[in-house]
Amino acid sequence: MPEAPLANVPNIDAAFAPTHDEFARMRLVSMLRKHVILDMREDMRRDFYEHVKPQTAAKTGTSPETWREIEKSMEPQPSYRFYSSMRYNAQEMSFNSVQDTVERALPEMISAGQFANAHNPAGGSLTVDPNFEVPKYVTTQDVHLIPGCFHSEWTSDDVAQGAVTEWGGKVFSGALPHRKETPGGGVAMSIGRWLKGKYPDFKPKRALDMGTTSGKNFFPYIDYYPGLEAYAIDVGAPVLRYGHAMAEYRGYPVHFSQQNAEKTNFADGSFDLITSSFFFHEVPVPVTRRIIQECYRLLAPGGIMVHMELPPEKSTTAWDNFFWNWDTENNNEPAYTMFRSQDPMEIMARAGFVAENCFETTVPNLGTFGEENYTKFFAGEIEAPKHGQGGWFVFGARK
Ligand SMILES: C[S@@+](CC[C@H](N)C(=O)[O-])C[C@H]1O[C@@H](n2cnc3c(N)ncnc32)[C@H](O)[C@@H]1O
Repeated sequence: MPEAPLANVPNIDAAFAPTHDEFARMRLVSMLRKHVILDMREDMRRDFYEHVKPQTAAKTGTSPETWREIEKSMEPQPSYRFYSSMRYNAQEMSFNSVQDTVERALPEMISAGQFANAHNPAGGSLTVDPNFEVPKYVTTQDVHLIPGCFHSEWTSDDVAQGAVTEWGGKVFSGALPHRKETPGGGVAMSIGRWLKGKYPDFKPKRALDMGTTSGKNFFPYIDYYPGLEAYAIDVGAPVLRYGHAMAEYRGYPVHFSQQNAEKTNFADGSFDLITSSFFFHEVPVPVTRRIIQECYRLLAPGGIMVHMELPPEKSTTAWDNFFWNWDTENNNEPAYTMFRSQDPMEIMARAGFVAENCFETTVPNLGTFGEENYTKFFAGEIEAPKHGQGGWFVFGARK
C-alpha cells in the first residue's frame, strides 16, 4: 500500500450494477451450469457404465476403455447430446448474460480505468502498446466462448472485455456476489498457502504472473508476501486495464504490461516467483514449451515457478479424460487435449530445470478445505482432493 493513497479511488467493480432482471438471469445461468456440470454429468456417467459400455461390448465384442473409445460410444447417446448442448449453451450464456450490464456501465468503468492510469494511487502501473501484435491463437476464435475474447477493443481505453471476462467468469463459476463482495482469487489463495507450507524459507521479492487476465489470481500472493514487487502480463489490453483499475482500488501495487509470455522484455533472472493459472492449456503446444523456457530465463537461482493447470492425461482416469477433453472441440480451446497429453515434468526438464527440483501435485482449495485440514495435509495425515473436486493441479520447479 502507498504511504498516502489518494482518497476516492473509483471502484471499477462497483460500476457493474445489474437490474433485478439482469441479476436473476445471471443467477439462472449459474444454476443451469451447476446442474449440467454436476447432475447431468453424473447421469451421463451412470448411463455409460450401466448401459452404453455393456451394450457396446455386446454389440461389437470390444468394450470402450480409452477416453477416445468412450467418446465415440457416447457421442450418439441422448444423455451425452443433451448434456453437451446444455453445457455449451450455459458456457456461452455465462458471458452473454453480463453484456447488457457491462455496456451500460462502460463509460463509468472506462473512467475508473483512466483514473487509475493517471494516478496509480496504490503505486502500480499500466503499460499497453497500441502496436502490440496479439498472437493468432488468441485472435482466431473467441476462446472459451467469450464474445470478443480477451483482446478486442471497441473504443478508446476500452475495458469491456475485462469486465465481460471478470463478471462472466463469476456467473460461470457460481461466484456472483449476493450479499457480500467476492474478490475471487481462490486458486492463488490456495497456492500461496501451499507455498508457505511447502517452502517455509522462501521469501520472494519480485514476482511475475503470466496470462494474468485481470490479475485476480495474482493479488493474493501480495498478501502472503508483503512488499512483493509484482508484475503481471497478458496479451489483451482491455483485461489489463480492468485489472489495473481493480488493483489500484484494492491497494495492490501491480505493474501490468501487455506482453507475450513467449518473449518478454524482462532481464535474465528478474524474478524469484513466477505464477500462472488456467493459462497453458489455451496456447499451442510449441508455445507452452517456449514459455517454460522463458520462465527458466526469467527465474533467479533459487526462484520458484508454479503453474496451476488441468491435470495431465496420464494422471486421470479414461472417463475423466473424456470429461475434461470436451472443451477441445466444444469450447474454442483447440490446444486443450494436446496440452493435457504432454508430461509437464518432461517440458520442464527440456527447458533446463533439474528433474529433482520439479514437481507436479494437487494443492487443496483453501476455501473449501480449511486451515485445520491444511495443517493435517502438511503433517501427511490427509490427502488433497482431486483437481476439480476441491483441489488444483499444479506443476512447477525451483531453479
Ligand atoms: C484463461 S485466461 C487466464 C486466467 C487468469 N490467469 C486467472 O486465473 O484469472 C488466459 C489468459 O492468457 C492470455 N494469453 C494468451 N496467450 C498469451 C501469451 N502468449 N502471453 C501472455 N498472455 C497470454 C489471454 O489473453 C488470457 O487473458
